[in-house]
Amino acid sequence: MIEFYLDSVDIKQVSRLHACLPLKGVTTNPTILAKAKLGVNQVLPEIAFIIGSEARFHVQVVSQTVDDIVEEAIQIDALPYDMVVKIPATETGLAAIKIIKDKDIKVLATAIYSVQQGIIAALSGADYLAPYVNRMDTMGCDGVKVVADLQLLIAQQGLNCKLLPASFKNTLQVIEVMKLGVKAITIPIGIAIQMMEHPAVIPAVEQFNQDWNAVFGAKLSYES
Ligand code: G3P
Repeated sequence: MIEFYLDSVDIKQVSRLHACLPLKGVTTNPTILAKAKLGVNQVLPEIAFIIGSEARFHVQVVSQTVDDIVEEAIQIDALPYDMVVKIPATETGLAAIKIIKDKDIKVLATAIYSVQQGIIAALSGADYLAPYVNRMDTMGCDGVKVVADLQLLIAQQGLNCKLLPASFKNTLQVIEVMKLGVKAITIPIGIAIQMMEHPAVIPAVEQFNQDWNAVFGAKLSYES
C-alpha cells in the first residue's frame, strides 16, 4: 500500500486524520516548523504518541555545506524514531546524499522541480524523491507529467527509489499522481479533508436517517 503522509505538524489535525486515514507518518520542512513555531523535539514525540512507534518522520536539514549537511543528517537519523532525512537536491545537497548513502541513512531528495534534477538525485542514492507538483504547475510546467517521467526513468534504471510527490493544492493533482502508482505521497491537511468530502454525502446520510427513524424510531438495524 502507498505510504500516506500528512505534510503538517498540526497535532490536533494529525490526531483527527489519524483516526480515519492510514497514516504512515508526517513530512515536515523548515517552513512548516517555523510557521507552527514548533521544533522537531516538540513535534515528534507528540505525533509518535498519536500514530504509534511505527510512525515515520521526514525532517529536512537546514545546513548549507556538504560537511554540515552530513553531520546534521547523522544527528537527525539518531533521533529515536523511524527517520528519513530530507535534503534539498541542489549540487551541495546531492554531494551530501552520495556520502550519506554509505552511512545507511534513509534520505529523501526534496525540492524537485524537474525530471532532470529528480533522476540525478535518484542516481545519487536517494531513497525517496519529492517532486513539488503544484509548485511546478504554477510555474507552467506539468507537475504530474514530471512525476510520470521520473517513475518511468526510475523503473528503467532499476533504482530502489520511491517517489513521494509533495506540494498539492487540489485533490485532482493527488489522484492523478496516485494513478501513476507512486509508492508514497504527502498532502496538506486541507487537501486530506477535502478528499473525504463531497457535497452529496451529508444530505444522502441525513435522508437515510430520516427514512429509518420514520419507520423504526430509535431501533438499531439489528433490532429491527
Ligand atoms: O515539503 C515540500 C512541500 O511541503 C511543499 O508544499 O504547499 O509549500 O508547495 P507547498
